[in-house]
Amino acid sequence: MEIISSISELRATLKRPASIAFVPTMGNLHAGHLKLVEIAKQHAKCVVVSIFVNPLQFGPHEDLANYPRTLEEDCWKLQAAGANIVFTPSVEEMYPTVSSDGLILGQTMMIRPPPIANELCGASRPGHFDGVATVVAKLFNIVQPDFAVFGKKDFQQLFIIRELVKQFNQPIEIIAGDTVREASGLAMSSRNGYLTEEQKVQAAQLHKMLDNIVLRVRNGIADLAVLADAASLALQQLGWEVEYVSIRSQAALIPATAQDKELVVLGAAKLGSTRLIDNIDFLR
Ligand code: PAJ
Repeated sequence: MEIISSISELRATLKRPASIAFVPTMGNLHAGHLKLVEIAKQHAKCVVVSIFVNPLQFGPHEDLANYPRTLEEDCWKLQAAGANIVFTPSVEEMYPTVSSDGLILGQTMMIRPPPIANELCGASRPGHFDGVATVVAKLFNIVQPDFAVFGKKDFQQLFIIRELVKQFNQPIEIIAGDTVREASGLAMSSRNGYLTEEQKVQAAQLHKMLDNIVLRVRNGIADLAVLADAASLALQQLGWEVEYVSIRSQAALIPATAQDKELVVLGAAKLGSTRLIDNIDFLR
């Protein structure tokens, strides 16, 4: 396995092997990330994983400075998982116009995603998906993969990346990996490390609540907005600070109507100061 930090060295090394599958990450890797690497290996001979904590996708009061950085451990995990190249650029390498604390210097060109990026997670994280779309577009240009693997855990992100590739005509097949969970149902996340042991137990409530909504919709409950509001209230009563619970169509990510069959229920809520998200896609 090779570890590369400069764009020119990466380009020289990549000189078009047979096919490339790419897994972008921000590191602090867990079984969810490694599952994506496994999927990538099924699609291409050369698997590139990037580890880059992207300052552009963090809001001014978010956890950019504290985001867990565990590069050495991550590289061991990726080597064991069979990745071929780990791309670990510095902030300066990725953004000559951005200072390392995320301050946008000079004239940084950004991608502006469609208005759906201002809903759900985008409502409480203004500009988040601009930062995600911009870094992913840059990484795609740098790595030039044939395939790129993203987790359904970040369903809205996956949706926006699919639009990015479609609308900017990038010849990349986007592959979605199922959410990997703890035995409790809690979706694995680098941010779970912020939780106390007690909170980790409580954190499984978010997935349980979404699971319950799936069950009820499948049992024929038609008023989806009422169902989502009830779940939101129930979480609040359990001590969560709820951002949203919403039942949407998979195809457009807009609030589901009675006609939609392919649905996704998404939720975001804070436990203490830790913000967690989860979702379940399902058919009714
Ligand atoms: P990060 O949170 O590190 O996630 C990297 C990839 O792993 C994303 O595609 C995410 O959806 C996936 N992932 C995270 N937890 C998962 C789980 N429990 N099961 C399956 N997949 C999971 O998402 C990002 O980084 C960044 O926004 C990035 C796309 C790298 C752009 O900076």
